[in-house]
Amino acid sequence: MIHSARFLVSNSTVDQCPKSSFPEYAFIGRSNVGKSSIINALTNNKKLAKTSGTPGKTKLINHFLINEAWCLVDLPGYGYAKTSKQERNELKKLVNDYFAKRKQLVNTFVLIDSRHQPQDIDVDFINTLGAQQHPFSIVFTKVDKLSNAQRQNNISVYKSHLIEQGWESVPPLFESSAKTGEGKKEILSYIESVNSNL
Ligand code: GTP
Ligand code: MG
Repeated sequence: MIHSARFLVSNSTVDQCPKSSFPEYAFIGRSNVGKSSIINALTNNKKLAKTSGTPGKTKLINHFLINEAWCLVDLPGYGYAKTSKQERNELKKLVNDYFAKRKQLVNTFVLIDSRHQPQDIDVDFINTLGAQQHPFSIVFTKVDKLSNAQRQNNISVYKSHLIEQGWESVPPLFESSAKTGEGKKEILSYIESVNSNL
């Protein structure tokens, strides 16, 4: 259960991120996939993280403190074609640096738009996290936009694709909608179970 959620700080470098030892959960994925929206859904606060219909909204590392005990971290999205090459490279460097340096990170949620077939940019990201031994889970977002049949089909295609990529077992998978609240309970229980094993 989340009983308190507050914005801590936004940073443009990893070295400036909070020095506190609160365990943190990061949200990453393509620009516009719904990272900021899911943080708002999980915390029941539509204004906590800034969302936008225009991709490329989140450009900083944003820390939110939950229950005065652990953090949700909203990261900039990758793969937004309309951002300048220089800015894309800077954001990529920021995100890579976050994963390389952030010792407080305990789990990453990689968000995938449930409407699409597997995209190289996401699969490459997942493979890199795996190679670096970062624990992660996959969250299929925007399931409210799909019929049950499309949704089941797309998710099973995704699982098969990961297995073809050499993943022997698929990581924990969640299906979510920031609009209907589906998946919130499961994601929060997962976080609670990880927290209780730290
Ligand atoms: P960047 O910060 O730009 O990388 O994007 P983001 O991944 O944080 O996405 P954001 O949460 O800002 O959401 C992008 C758009 O998708 C907004 O218009 C949201 O309202 C919409 N959206 C996010 N999640 C859902 C969802 O579960 N269902 C529906 N229908 N729309 C969603
Ligand atoms: Mg965002």
